[in-house]
Amino acid sequence: MKILVTGGLGFIGSHTVVELQSEGFEVVIIDNLSNSSEEVMVGIEAISNIKPIFEKLDLREKSAVQSFFEKHHDIKGVIHFAASKAVGESVENPLLYYENNLSTLIYLLQELQKKDEASFIFSSSCTVYGQAEKMPITEDAPIQSAMSPYGNTKQIGEEIITDVAKVSNIKAILLRYFNPVGSHPSAEIGELPIGVPQNLVPFITQTGMGLREKLSVYGDDYPTPDGTAVRDYIHVVDLAKAHVIALKRLLENKNLEKVETFNLGTGTGSSVLEVINAFEKVSDKKLNYQIVGRREGDITSAYANTDKANEVLGWKAQSTLEESLASAWMWEQKIRG
Ligand code: WQD
Repeated sequence: MKILVTGGLGFIGSHTVVELQSEGFEVVIIDNLSNSSEEVMVGIEAISNIKPIFEKLDLREKSAVQSFFEKHHDIKGVIHFAASKAVGESVENPLLYYENNLSTLIYLLQELQKKDEASFIFSSSCTVYGQAEKMPITEDAPIQSAMSPYGNTKQIGEEIITDVAKVSNIKAILLRYFNPVGSHPSAEIGELPIGVPQNLVPFITQTGMGLREKLSVYGDDYPTPDGTAVRDYIHVVDLAKAHVIALKRLLENKNLEKVETFNLGTGTGSSVLEVINAFEKVSDKKLNYQIVGRREGDITSAYANTDKANEVLGWKAQSTLEESLASAWMWEQKIRG
């Protein structure tokens, strides 16, 4: 069974390709290498002993997308990761985000709606909830107006998929990730942020390696137990496994609605200081950090109610925060060692 993974050389994409291949799927990767490297193919093959098909292609080129689907007409399912995902950058350059994240989705869906049936897994984000009223966050928590163009592209993306699924043979599952962290236990693949990391965990591991002088903790005046913001940090391999389960659900026609939505988190919230303490424990290093002011656009707290994913998908995150941080630290040491 041939599956397309767009953005398959990226952080979550590459881990999902490995899980798909271990389940016997034939994988075709599309990636434009704007935020990844072809080197990742080596890591994927080192783990799976299978080399996926790779097509360097920019999904913003409509004609290229059409030719791709003519060539790979036997594709049965798509897992769509390819998108720009830096919140801050999206505020400075909204059109880059609206063009890249939405036109690519539209061109993919235009090809899929020509098929007798198509299964589509969409990489969404807990960012669609904004600052949810109630913790832990359930899938029916209200969608609040987006705090960034990035978050807006995820909200609009979900709406486009829902509208198209109503009038086509496309079945879809929207996966709303909380905070993906960690790396494959083999340390053959992991997170490769380009430039100064925006996200907490890669900044911590780079500080642990001495690549960054110190971590800035963005605010300790939030209404949380220790004053720092709370998030739900989920291991990327747990996340990848959920994608394969969701895809099989659609391929086997087990979905109860044309479009289903699942929160993917651990169900546990951890504050920034708790992440720092956990890192110091697993790395046996003292982390150099300084409390500074809040980051614009950050929310106080977000962690998932995972009942629906547990009960309907039969999926539950396995890794603890410490295990996730240990894998991220091992990866950082390997790539910088
Ligand atoms: C986590 C916490 C920061 C860096 C974003 C996107 C989300 C998803 C994951 C794509 C926050 C604090 C961070 C630092 C810090 N991306 N922090 N110092 O903002 O929860 O989510 O990335 O899907 O959509 O919104 O993740 O890792 O940037 O921040 O104190 O140097 O760590 O304030 O409380 P975030 P993050």
